[in-house]
Amino acid sequence: MHTIDAIRTRKTVKVLADDAWKPCLTEDEQKELCDHLLTLAAQAPYHYKSAERYKTGAQTSSLPFRCYTLDGATCNALATKLEALDPPPGKILNMLWAAELLVITTWLPDVFGVQPEERIMEPVPFVGNLRNMEHIAATSAAIQNMLLGATAEGYPNYWSSGGVLRYESARKILQISLTEIMLGAVFIFPKDAVERAEEIKPGKLREEGKVLGSFSKKVSL
Ligand SMILES: Cc1cc2nc3c(=O)[nH]c(=O)nc-3n(C[C@H](O)[C@H](O)[C@H](O)COP(=O)(O)O)c2cc1C
Repeated sequence: MHTIDAIRTRKTVKVLADDAWKPCLTEDEQKELCDHLLTLAAQAPYHYKSAERYKTGAQTSSLPFRCYTLDGATCNALATKLEALDPPPGKILNMLWAAELLVITTWLPDVFGVQPEERIMEPVPFVGNLRNMEHIAATSAAIQNMLLGATAEGYPNYWSSGGVLRYESARKILQISLTEIMLGAVFIFPKDAVERAEEIKPGKLREEGKVLGSFSKKVSL
C-alpha cells in the first residue's frame, strides 16, 4: 500500500472481544510486526533529546518517548490481572482480549525542581514550555507512523488514551514508571478482527471538521 493510501484509509477501529482470542500471528510474526512498527516510530521527526534522567537500563535512547510492547499472549495476561483491580478496566479489557499487539507509548517530560521519590500519578499538569510541547509533538508523530504502518499491513488499529492503563495500579503491573506520561495505548488487532469481533466501534469524531476551509485559511499579504 502506498503511504498516501495508508493515510487516507487509516481510521480508528475499536475491536471488542467477549473473551480472549487466539492470536492470528505466531510469536515470531508478532515480533516481526512489532519491530516493524517500532522502526517506523523511530523514523518520526524529533526536535529535542530526552533528559538524561530517562536513560535507564537498556533504554538509553535520546528519543523523547518510550514504547512498551505487549504481544497477544501478554495482552491476555494483562487483561486477567486488570480484571481483579479497582476501578474495573471497562472496554480496555475487551480490546486486550482481541489485540495482536499493544504498544504503550509514553513521552518524557522535562521537569523542574525537586521531584517526589515515589510517584502515585504522572507529572500532570506538566510544565507548558516549548520543549515539552515538541516532545509531545514528536511522540505523536511516532504514534501516527505506527498507525499508518499497521494500516498499510492490513491490521485494524486504535489510538487509545489508555484508560485504566494510566493508573498507578496498572503501571505497577506494567512496570512503566509514573515519571513518564502515557500518550497512547496503540492497539493492533488481527487482520480478520472485523469479521470475528462481537462489536466494532469507530472513532466518534471520524467525520467531524474535515471541510478544508473550516480548519485552514489562505494567508494573503
Ligand atoms: C491523543 C489521542 C487520544 C485518543 N484517545 C481515545 C480514547 O481514549 N478513546 C477513544 O474512543 N478514542 C480515542 N482516540 C481516537 C479518536 O476518537 C479518533 O481518532 C477520532 O474519533 C477520529 O476518528 P478516526 O481516528 O477514525 O479518524 C484518541 C485519539 C488521539 C489522537
